[in-house]
Amino acid sequence: MRLRRSRLYVPGNNPKMIPPAGLYGADVISLDLEDSVPLEYKTDARMLVSEALKVIDFGPATEVTVRINPMSTPYGKWDIKQIVSEKLHGIYIPKVESREDVIQVDDIVTDLEEKKGLPIGRIKLFATLETAKGIINAYDIARCSKRLEALTIGGEDLTADLGGERSSTGTAINTARSMVLLAAKAAGIQAIDTVYSDFGDPEGLRKETEMIKTMGYDGKACIHPSQVEIIHSVFDPTPEQILYAVRVKMAIEEAKKKGSGAVALGAKMIDRPIVLKAERVLEIAKMADLDIPSPEEVTEMMQQKAKKSGGGDD
Ligand code: COA
Ligand code: MG
Repeated sequence: MRLRRSRLYVPGNNPKMIPPAGLYGADVISLDLEDSVPLEYKTDARMLVSEALKVIDFGPATEVTVRINPMSTPYGKWDIKQIVSEKLHGIYIPKVESREDVIQVDDIVTDLEEKKGLPIGRIKLFATLETAKGIINAYDIARCSKRLEALTIGGEDLTADLGGERSSTGTAINTARSMVLLAAKAAGIQAIDTVYSDFGDPEGLRKETEMIKTMGYDGKACIHPSQVEIIHSVFDPTPEQILYAVRVKMAIEEAKKKGSGAVALGAKMIDRPIVLKAERVLEIAKMADLDIPSPEEVTEMMQQKAKKSGGGDD
């Protein structure tokens, strides 16, 4: 699985915003053909996005995706036909309500890959659940295609469908957030949260990102470049968390040599769930290109620390 902490929406009909979109450091860019594009600009946006996919370099680390129109509209199919190409990494399908919505896209993409001589299966799919029906069918949807790499939740549309109200506590959508997360993880794919629309409220974004990260989410969508760094700072493990994760791995390796599955690190027991968490921290740190100290460096650091706390030179 790749790193998908942040996913920046870029309106597909905006020729000014598309070319520099890769410069903001988002893990994923979603060129949008759906709700940020008014009906009368759908055809222009589709052409602009398909051209951008050919000529613009969004950077080697960026996953380049397009959010198409729903398959229940006449635009969805046309969008796919025009965007499937060498540099497209993935397609976000909005308003998915059943497995058929995803399978239909999968079949069209496979057909186009064959016709265009592209490797079969390279283009990934992402299903956005944003109606009550989609949420109820989440697990069935999560398991329906090998191309599917994540479920995402669409907060604004879901709130409207439920008849609720969007709030900073997420009251209207938190049950759905849990259901999407459970379905995605049970199917072995990622879960990506909805946007925080008020880009003038960095603290609100930080709080919401902390909440969804605590739940188990892998990333969050955003609408403004200033939101990318805030999201990354929440998802990136701190140097202390990385150090602890390396120490956990070292301790458990040591325990294994002695034939034990559990060991104490300080006053805390280290067992399988703690090791899994440490492995996840290290995996994210590696993908995010953060510094990971080697076991030798950690041993030296701990020796220095012990020396200091032993009242040595101070
Ligand atoms: N993608 C790429 N660039 C963006 C961007 C985005 N989503 N949002 C803003 N920028 C750029 C602006 O073009 C501007 O660039 P410049 O400094 O070179 O002129 C810079 O970031 C600062 O933008 P700012 O002036 O603060 O905002 P804005 O008024 O230009 O745009 C929005 C505000 C909300 C209209 C814009 O962020 C946007 O369109 N977001 C995406 C909306 C969307 O896709 N919604 C559908 C999914 S929910
Ligand atoms: Mg939506």
